[in-house]
Amino acid sequence: MRIENLRYTERFGAVMLHDVQKVLELDSGRSRGVPPQLNLAVRKVEEETIKDFEEKMAVIIPTKNERLKLFEGVIGGVPHECLKIIVSNSERRRFDRFRMERDALEQYCRFTQRRALIFHQKDPLLAEALSDAGYPDILGEDGLIKDGKAEGMIVGMLLAKMAGKEYVGFIDADNYFPGSVWEYIRCYAAGFILAESPYTMVRVLWRYKPKMSVHGMYFKKWGRVSQVTNRVMNALISYTMGFDTDIIKTGNAGEHAISLQLADILPYASGFAVEPQELLSIFEGFGGALPVADRSAANRGVEIFQIESRNPHLHEEKGAEHIQEMLLDGLGSIYHSPLSETGIREVILEELIDQNALSLGEEPPKPNIYPPLGRADIGKFRKALEDHLDAYSVLPEK
Ligand code: GDD
Ligand code: MG
Repeated sequence: MRIENLRYTERFGAVMLHDVQKVLELDSGRSRGVPPQLNLAVRKVEEETIKDFEEKMAVIIPTKNERLKLFEGVIGGVPHECLKIIVSNSERRRFDRFRMERDALEQYCRFTQRRALIFHQKDPLLAEALSDAGYPDILGEDGLIKDGKAEGMIVGMLLAKMAGKEYVGFIDADNYFPGSVWEYIRCYAAGFILAESPYTMVRVLWRYKPKMSVHGMYFKKWGRVSQVTNRVMNALISYTMGFDTDIIKTGNAGEHAISLQLADILPYASGFAVEPQELLSIFEGFGGALPVADRSAANRGVEIFQIESRNPHLHEEKGAEHIQEMLLDGLGSIYHSPLSETGIREVILEELIDQNALSLGEEPPKPNIYPPLGRADIGKFRKALEDHLDAYSVLPEK
C-alpha cells in the first residue's frame, strides 16, 4: 500500500503524536526487489512486509448481539495471517446468539483453513483464569467479567498475549463493509512498520462516515462524538503545553491497534471511555507533566499514528441515548484526568450542557480505571485455560 509520509509530529515529553497520514493506494504493486525511489511525500509499504506484521497481530472483535450477517462479513475481512479473537457478550438465554456466532466462525475457519479463538465474556472459566493470573479487576460482584466493550478488549488482549502475538488490532463487529475491515488492518500494519519505537499505537480516521439524510446518502467527515472529544482533547494539550494545537483527530477511534509492549504498561478505562483514556494514559504517563510510568518506554518514546483510510465507515446506528452515553464517558475520562485543570473542566461542563448530556451543577461520571495488563501473570492465565482451549479455539482441519 502507499501512504503519505510522516510530515509533522507534535512532541510532549516522550510522546510523539504524528499528524494524519492518508492512504493513497490500497495496493501499490510488486516490490520488484529494488528499493523504491526516494520520495519524501509518499511511502510505499511492501506487501510482504505487511504480511509479516499481520502474522504477528491478533485481531480482537468485541461483539454484543450484532446481526450475524455483519459479524460474518467482518470475520471475512480480516487478513488470513492474523489470529482472530472474538470476545462475545451476546445473549445466550432466549436465543443462543453466541452459539450462532461460534457456528458461523467454525464453518468459516474450516473452509478457509484458519485458526481463531472465541470466548463468551461471561464464561466462568475466563473469570477464573483472570483471578488465577492476579488480574481480577474487571470482575463484577457476581464473580464474572463485567459487561462492556472495554472489558472485552482487555480479556482479548490477554488472550493475544497468551497466543504469543506482538500486536493487537480492534475491529467492531457491526461494520457493513468487509473491505474496510481489511483496509483498517493494513493501516495498523503500516503504522507498526513505520514506527521506530516498540511502544506504539495506531488509530484509524475514516475518510467519511456516511449518513442517510432526506436528500439521500451524505458523506459526513466527522461523527458528532468525535468532533467534541477531539476538540476537548486538543484543548487539554493546548492548556498543558501553552500552544494551541489541533493535532488530535482520533480521540474516540474504536478502530485502533496497539503493540502489546505498550498495552502492558497502560491503565484502561471502563465503558466507552476506553479509547480516549488510552490517549490520556499515554499523556499522563509519558507527557512529562507527571511522574514517568515506565522508564524503558520513556527512553524509547511512545508513538501515536493517525492513519486516514480510503474506505468510508458504515456501521449500525444505535440511537441518541447511546451517543450521549459515549460523550459522557469520553469527556468524563478527560474531566477526571490528573492533567485536567479548572479551565479545561469548565470547557467540558459547557460542552456537555450544550449537548444536553448534563444538567447545570452535575459532573460527568468518573470511569473505573483498570491496571496495566503487565499486572497479569500470563503463565497462570494460560495454565487455567490450556486444558479447555480445544473447546474454545476453532482450528482448521489438517
Ligand atoms: N465483548 C463485548 N462486550 N462487546 C461489546 C459490548 C460488551 O459488553 N458492548 C458493545 N460491544 C461491541 C459491539 O457489538 C461492537 O462490535 C463494538 O463493541 C462497538 O460497539 P458499538 O455499540 O457499535 O459502538 P459505537 O459504534 O457507537 O462506537 C464505536 O466507535 C466509537 C468511535 O469511533 C466504538 O468502537 C467506540 O468504542 C468508539 O469510541
Ligand atoms: Mg458501532
